[in-house]
Amino acid sequence: MDIAFRHLSSRTVPSAHPCMTTPGANSCYADDVRKSKVPLRKNSLSSSLSSAMAGMTQGFLFRSPTTVNFGVDTATGVADFVTLHGGSKVLLVTDKGLVQHKVVQPVIQALVDGGFNPVVFDDVPPDSDLNCVQRAVEIGKKEDCDCIVAVGGGSVIDTAKVVNIGLCNDGDLRDFEGINCLTDRLKPMFVIPTTAGTGSEVSAVAMIRDLETGKKLLYGSEFLYANMAILDPQLLVSLPPKLTAATGMDAVTHCLESFVSRTSNCLSDALALEAGTMLFASLPRATGHGDDIEARSATLIASCMAGMAFTNAGVGVVHALAHSVGGKYGTHHGLTNAVLLPFGMKLNLASSAEKYAKFWRHLSGSGMFTEIGYESFVSKDHIDDLAAANLLLNGVRELMKLCKLPSRLKDIGVPELGKEELLEIAEISMTDPAIMFNPGETTVDDLVTILREAF
Ligand SMILES: NC(=O)c1ccc[n+]([C@@H]2O[C@H](COP(=O)([O-])OP(=O)(O)OC[C@H]3O[C@@H](n4cnc5c(N)ncnc54)[C@H](O)[C@@H]3O)[C@@H](O)[C@H]2O)c1
Ligand SMILES: [Fe+2]
Repeated sequence: MDIAFRHLSSRTVPSAHPCMTTPGANSCYADDVRKSKVPLRKNSLSSSLSSAMAGMTQGFLFRSPTTVNFGVDTATGVADFVTLHGGSKVLLVTDKGLVQHKVVQPVIQALVDGGFNPVVFDDVPPDSDLNCVQRAVEIGKKEDCDCIVAVGGGSVIDTAKVVNIGLCNDGDLRDFEGINCLTDRLKPMFVIPTTAGTGSEVSAVAMIRDLETGKKLLYGSEFLYANMAILDPQLLVSLPPKLTAATGMDAVTHCLESFVSRTSNCLSDALALEAGTMLFASLPRATGHGDDIEARSATLIASCMAGMAFTNAGVGVVHALAHSVGGKYGTHHGLTNAVLLPFGMKLNLASSAEKYAKFWRHLSGSGMFTEIGYESFVSKDHIDDLAAANLLLNGVRELMKLCKLPSRLKDIGVPELGKEELLEIAEISMTDPAIMFNPGETTVDDLVTILREAF
């Protein structure tokens, strides 16, 4: 068994006391660093050690308050967690595809066996919208639901998060859009992801379309962290190959964008690097063999780790563009990211060659990737950062080929764009919060170039 799959098949025992989120925690590491009297002994270190510690005095804040429980069949333990958090009336949010594939039934049965009579809302569309959220809020309020269980992909999870805002607040849900616009704790929420990609189970954000304006609303708050993320690889077996690959590439993009983000830190970097390694190794296998529980486990855990990385460090130009392209042409989030990723990385080579090179050296150093079929990850001595960074970019292209994914916008339903449309998408993307985290200066022209090249 190779490194990426070790330890993944054993059932993980749930913690006896799943911790609640602790909103308001604001102790800033930066202050501790500034006050520190310990002198930095730079001169006494060897140069490689010294470079490994470069930037280590930079302050950061890292939050990941969601309790994670991984293991085959853990989804059937959901009732215990609802009980621990004092829930009595569950609103279960899911979608019709998951009902059809019988993914959600074992969770409903487990809740019934645990003494709950869940109210099931299964009307979530892909890339969900405010109308859907409103319908679920009305049902949840009418039935006096006091906690939420979300079973599904990113669309279901994001819907459930905004439903939670609606259950706890009166008024127009648009008024709560934006970063830190919530003032109170929400109802306990338990998330069971059925795709391995978005990381929404551990993220503090939700994105929902407003059908009236065509805009995708971004909700970002400390209070949107779920109380529990229950990762059960068995639930992903029915996910078709194309969706497995597309959602997996969302997670790969979270790794590679958060790793070079302006606000990355050593904790988010460690998560992104290890999650990236697991994804390059496991995604082709999970795509080709949906019932391979080892590969499903690796993608599910890696996607969760990538979620922790990006919710702390941010994403970048690829996500900024994918949000506007997806909003306009209805393309799948992960697939759009996949197609744009090599072009976004090309733009960032100028600012981030050193970090991409570090990523490449981590992958090529493990020695396991040539066996899977990656030529770009053959280990090489004496290779400079730019050459190593370019090999990582080629490795992303190889991963997409191994997963049989298309590589151009025209292949995923985006029509040929004229000069004005290109400018419009680029300008909308420049206002997307994701762009703030992209390394280096990014201009409208850069974004137009990416869109042109990716077509
Ligand atoms: N909040 C965040 O942190 C965050 C991050 C990234 C993306 N997102 C959002 O997530 C959404 C995309 O989510 P997604 O990529 O997970 O896809 P999705 O939730 O839209 O699901 C896509 C399709 O896959 C089906 N499906 C899901 N799991 C299945 C399974 N196990 N078996 C069979 N079919 C299954 C669903 O029924 C659906 O038809 C977008 O709206 C995006 O904006 C949110
Ligand atoms: Fe994403």
